[in-house]
Amino acid sequence: MKILQLTDIHLLPPGGTLHGLDPAEQLRGAVADILARQADADLLVLTGDLANDGDPEAYALLREILAPLPMPVRFLLGNHDARPAFRAEFPEAECDATGFVQSFLDTDHGRLLFLDSHSAGEIGGRYCADRLAWLDSALAEAGPLPVTVFVHHPPMPDGLAHFRHIGFHDGEAVLARLRAHAPGLRHVVFGHIHVPLAGTTPSGIAFSSGQACSHRFIADLEDPAPWWTGGAPTYRVLLIDEAGFRAYTLEAGAQRLSRAPVCPGP
Ligand SMILES: [Fe+2]
Repeated sequence: MKILQLTDIHLLPPGGTLHGLDPAEQLRGAVADILARQADADLLVLTGDLANDGDPEAYALLREILAPLPMPVRFLLGNHDARPAFRAEFPEAECDATGFVQSFLDTDHGRLLFLDSHSAGEIGGRYCADRLAWLDSALAEAGPLPVTVFVHHPPMPDGLAHFRHIGFHDGEAVLARLRAHAPGLRHVVFGHIHVPLAGTTPSGIAFSSGQACSHRFIADLEDPAPWWTGGAPTYRVLLIDEAGFRAYTLEAGAQRLSRAPVCPGP
């Protein structure tokens, strides 16, 4: 199964810029690359911070830019989003019974869980009792299926000074439930931190972030006020199959220097 991850696109109403970048142009660049090279993907997942300020016009722009893509889409909300404005523009988006933008999808390679960690008025993530109850039932109903989790905020420590106080405030409660899922947890996929990160928790849970499609940080572990920078529109290809889970980062419009020769081995 081929899944595309787009994260932290931070759309503004048309014409707006952030740190000198137009997030809509960044997203258009990624969508054009996806159409050219990844149109066979089974699913696109946007892992939050869809809109920078939760503007209705930004969500309308998101619908317009994504319209040419042929694959189904799942949306997650990030701290920059506004749940009411998102749901007004995307009433068809999968939600749970209490209105959180979370859902699951069963595939030939396990159950995909899409979690809503957005908490209005907070930068960090929050996963309340209602959402935990939904997760408990989604895990129980998964039966023998392993799960792969998509969520905006990393539920484990990311080790970055800037995010020390704006992580997933009750992420450990989520992790505890995932650890207890006997059929296994393939991977936790997230955004939020605007730098690429991959690791494992002490209990062996594998995790990684997608690079932000829009502005991103110059990676700095110690600086609580790191620099923003730009770069090519970026997305990830996530493969889940008999060989497990793999994640590849792709950049739209990468410069082509010359071809590598075919390596026939050994
Ligand atoms: Fe973000």
